[in-house]
Amino acid sequence: METTLIILKPDAVQRGLMGKIISRFEDKGLQVVGAKFMKITDDLASQHYADHREKPFYAGLVSFMTSSPVLVLALRGNGAIAVCRSMMGATFGFKADAGTIRGDFGVSSSFNLIHGSDSPEAAEKELALFFSDGDIIDWSPAGQGWVYDMSSGAPE
Ligand code: RTP
Ligand code: MG
Repeated sequence: METTLIILKPDAVQRGLMGKIISRFEDKGLQVVGAKFMKITDDLASQHYADHREKPFYAGLVSFMTSSPVLVLALRGNGAIAVCRSMMGATFGFKADAGTIRGDFGVSSSFNLIHGSDSPEAAEKELALFFSDGDIIDWSPAGQGWVYDMSSGAPE
């Protein structure tokens, strides 16, 4: 099981799309194991997007991400990191495939609704950045036995 960090960005919150986006992940069978509604500080945004510090869009990205509240989620499931990236779609809404979150809800190249960790290393770093010890809760969804084949003792 993998856990990934998802951020519903300021545009998703302001446009009232949180519920629709969370429903897609729940419908897929992913489990919410952490959630935090918060305003990202400049310092946190710069740590989170440190790899983009030299990019021309960096200043605008930090200003966007700190402009209004976000909903940060920890989602768990089989292959959760790649599954979430594929459900998010390509970075720019106008290029993202229909059927993906970015493809269905936006057309902008900057306001693209959602962030998702892009590798196990990024997920580990980002989960530690946004969640403290105890914020992520191990719990057993009642329907887990129908989301996964548990006959071998492990989820398949
Ligand atoms: P994210 O990190 O937010 O999940 O997005 P991503 O992997 O799909 O895209 P990435 O290349 O990591 O870019 C981070 C965020 O920066 C903004 N961006 N703007 N105007 C531009 O050329 C440009 N390129 C990237 C987007 O908000 C993107 O999600
Ligand atoms: Mg990225």
